[in-house]
Amino acid sequence: MRIYDTGTPSQRESAITDIERDHEARVRAHIAADVRAAGGWIGFDRFMDLALYAPGLGYYSAGARKLGPGGDFTTAPEISRLFGAAVAQAGAAVLEEIGGGAILEIGAGSGRLAGDLIEFLDARGIAPSRYWILDVSAELRDRQREYLRGRLGDRVERVEWLDAPPAAAFDGLIVANEVLDALPVVRFRWSRRGVEALGVECRDGDRFAWSARPADPVLVTACEALRDAAGGGWTDGYESEWCPRLRPWAAEVTRSLRTGAVLWFDYGLPRAHYYLAERRQGTLICHYRHRAFDDPFARPGLEDITAWVDFTALAEAGDAAGFEIAGYTTQAYFLAGNGIDAHLGELAGSDPLQAARLANEARRLMMPGEMGERFKVMAWSRGLTGALGGFALRDLRHTL
Ligand SMILES: C[S@@+](CC[C@H](N)C(=O)[O-])C[C@H]1O[C@@H](n2cnc3c(N)ncnc32)[C@H](O)[C@@H]1O
Repeated sequence: MRIYDTGTPSQRESAITDIERDHEARVRAHIAADVRAAGGWIGFDRFMDLALYAPGLGYYSAGARKLGPGGDFTTAPEISRLFGAAVAQAGAAVLEEIGGGAILEIGAGSGRLAGDLIEFLDARGIAPSRYWILDVSAELRDRQREYLRGRLGDRVERVEWLDAPPAAAFDGLIVANEVLDALPVVRFRWSRRGVEALGVECRDGDRFAWSARPADPVLVTACEALRDAAGGGWTDGYESEWCPRLRPWAAEVTRSLRTGAVLWFDYGLPRAHYYLAERRQGTLICHYRHRAFDDPFARPGLEDITAWVDFTALAEAGDAAGFEIAGYTTQAYFLAGNGIDAHLGELAGSDPLQAARLANEARRLMMPGEMGERFKVMAWSRGLTGALGGFALRDLRHTL
């Protein structure tokens, strides 16, 4: 459930190019070979991993444009600097409490949030000592470098691109906006025959189709726990996703944070709502040129594939990794609690046109029908004594 720029009709409808078609064919062949090597069937998590991350081929590993009007979706930092201003306000309090530190951004997209955070924090007199970016996409890393060099000038020297999470312990802040939703998920079906793992098989060479297999005991146990957490009531044919990678991945990327906070932003729900019996089709969704599709096999390598985040699972992951769950709320309340109105006033100055433009952007970030309610923010903290800014207005931790 990413957010779209409306774009022009021609941007949205423009035909797939020959280069894209060739790329898609290579991705298909690569995944089909993997299916054959596995004996004719792979789990959906394996398919999603290959379609998004296969080296040189996957949606995130290869050259798809992804963000912005010429891409497939837009994000909060792309919509407005107000997002970065509010995140900087929350981050400044953390850096002030620990006497300064570094920032690690995971999945930095175009680099816009990095630019905003560095500028706003510098202006507040609490500049991060280093700004690390950890991003799987070589194409986006190049775009980030070019963008940040143009925007920050010499200050870009503080930015460093990492190939793996920092090995040495550090103090500071970790930020990730819309990254968790791309972690490969297991897809399952609750059926009269028992729990089934929904995977992928090939038909006519490299055409992919859903195919069900009896679930292994680990998946059966996980599904039963998810169903119980949501109050039961699943009936024959109920389908959804489960993300076993969330916990190990989140632990790995946050392991080196000695003192400070992690801010996770994404669309999602607490487990009891995510797995309600009424949500019979799960939350899997694909994004291509600012439109949403439900068929992950239609354009492998060309389209983004995402699933909503189970924020209860994220809280459990934080707990298991030794963090305190310091806050959980909606994006709208987080932004309000971090002074979005005041930032709007400061950025607009006395220019009424600018004020109107920013007010429109703020609406997109905060309205329930846009990003305000569906997008949530969770904070993990370690070694902090002060409360994190932006979570007191509407503390939703009791829903986890
Ligand atoms: C939906 S975009 C969001 C970009 C940016 N945070 C924003 O809000 O505009 C997802 C970003 O995460 C990166 N990414 C996806 N999976 C990742 C992973 N496992 N580790 C690190 N970065 C990842 C992508 O390359 C991309 O930069």
